[in-house]
Amino acid sequence: MAYSIKITKAAQSKVSEVDFSNIPFGKIFSDHIFVADYDGKQWTNLEIKPLEKMPLHPATMAWHYGQAIFEGMKAGKSADGVPLLFRPQLHAQRMNASAKRMCMPEIPEDLFIQALEQLLLIDKDWIPTQSDSALYLRPVMMATDEFIGVRSSETFRFMILALPSGPYYNKPVGLWVEEHFVRAADGGVGEAKAAGNYGAALYPTKLARDKGYDQVMWMDARDFKYVQESGTMNVFFLTKNAVLTPNLSGTILRGITRDSIIQILKDNGYKVEERPVSIDEIIEAHTKGELLEVFGTGTAAVIAQIHRIGYHGKDYHINAPEDGVAAMLKSSINGIRQGRLQDKHDWVWPVEQKSAVLA
Ligand code: COI
Repeated sequence: MAYSIKITKAAQSKVSEVDFSNIPFGKIFSDHIFVADYDGKQWTNLEIKPLEKMPLHPATMAWHYGQAIFEGMKAGKSADGVPLLFRPQLHAQRMNASAKRMCMPEIPEDLFIQALEQLLLIDKDWIPTQSDSALYLRPVMMATDEFIGVRSSETFRFMILALPSGPYYNKPVGLWVEEHFVRAADGGVGEAKAAGNYGAALYPTKLARDKGYDQVMWMDARDFKYVQESGTMNVFFLTKNAVLTPNLSGTILRGITRDSIIQILKDNGYKVEERPVSIDEIIEAHTKGELLEVFGTGTAAVIAQIHRIGYHGKDYHINAPEDGVAAMLKSSINGIRQGRLQDKHDWVWPVEQKSAVLA
């Protein structure tokens, strides 16, 4: 179905103030925002307008009980200037899976995509073209009832922010294997992209940073034996025999970059094993000289090399070659996303003027 989105354009664009050769992640916002409100029955007031601060009542329920979910997506631009979304249907589906788990309303997939398309067409000049940059898109939904008392909110706000962004990590990262705090347990909210998952990770991450590491490598909550994910990424281990990555067990994020990287690895003839991966197996592979590379995948991080794992008071150093498998994967996924490499799995969604519905 075609949605009618009210559009109010900014009087003056701020795009000329941006140094696209040096874009810090997460700090620079495009001119416009998409906003929609759920009134308890349907999504209403669909609007793209100049980005501005948003007044909210102190009893807004999202702040009190954490009904807040988000997505992270990236858009590129083809050589002839067409904005390119990357696997938007999967992001819509994951947003709706998060919404279901957090007792929030789903967003029709076509509304999600049309809102993104419209925003991209309006803020097209904000899409960076450098190979390691992109327009990061942040769909986010929050509970907006003004009420003190624990129940689900009935009203919600859905927004999409757009931020030109450079790399999330600009050097290989070190991970601390966490054996006290947990990110997610069976039956919990680990698979949802719920804001609270990220808030709860901050203190263990601070402790890992205090020890000299960049991020935490989370273990399973029952035995602290099996690798889950790391910080903002899914993790992959390139061993002599295969590429190992934890299976989707319900406690880790269903990464869309993870899924794309598994496919690119297979396309390049690598054997990929999605299964429980124990930390002991990784340490043993390292000891035998069979752990060749370790890397994390995520929309923001794309591919981040992992050069060090701290476990039981010992540091395990891993090669992070500039021309290895992680580097090949990074240039492949960036190239596909930016329309420079062949898109043989139909991941790229070109946003043509005609496909978007103007109000
Ligand atoms: C992403 O990779 O898009 C994320 O959501 C991670 C983060 C910036 C919170």
